[in-house]
Amino acid sequence: MRHHITWHEGKVQKEHRENLNGHKAALIWFTGLSGSGKSTISVEVEKALHELGIHTYRLDGDNIRHGLNHDLSFSEEDRIENIRRIGEVSKLFVDAGQLTLAAFISPFKKDREFVRSLLPKGEFIEVFVQASIETCAKRDPKGLYEKVYKGELKSFTGIDAPYEIPDSPEIIIDTENQSIEGSVRQVVNYLKNNQVI
Ligand code: ADX
Repeated sequence: MRHHITWHEGKVQKEHRENLNGHKAALIWFTGLSGSGKSTISVEVEKALHELGIHTYRLDGDNIRHGLNHDLSFSEEDRIENIRRIGEVSKLFVDAGQLTLAAFISPFKKDREFVRSLLPKGEFIEVFVQASIETCAKRDPKGLYEKVYKGELKSFTGIDAPYEIPDSPEIIIDTENQSIEGSVRQVVNYLKNNQVI
């Protein structure tokens, strides 16, 4: 299949789009357990960035699984494929010049490292959204932990499916001890300190 295809370079490239936008493009990758706060924090970070005049786009696990990835389950194989596709889509958004935010459990280190490898150094910013499984189960924003405890939901991340904690994420957000506003500030400050925005 791959043998008869060639790459076509355009005359407008990422650097041109970045210059037009007035800021760099990058991928902010939120990883963590279900209920850890990935979606909440990424929504608020996007709002803060938008208000600063930054061009953003946000990709979120539950949303993408309604469309592009509606054919995927939560088996290990499908979770790997889920992140592979999102990685490729994120790369396109970054190439389009957007400061892209992705919020997926992305439980496997190898898959997160694959996405990192798709982008130039410094353009993949891994954010570990941290909360214990007990805290996530207590929050239970979608009522899924209750279903797990009733035996109605299997292969749930952190219970009977694995979550591999990041070794050296660019940012660790302690959602048990920090407000949402504090977490947003933490991410925005990182982007400023690293000359992304
Ligand atoms: S991932 O593991 O493949 O990265 P993704 O982020 O796309 O997961 O989707 C996670 C969301 O799907 C959770 O926030 C939750 O709402 C829902 N979900 C449904 N079943 C499961 C399950 N078995 N494990 C984890 N999340 C699940």
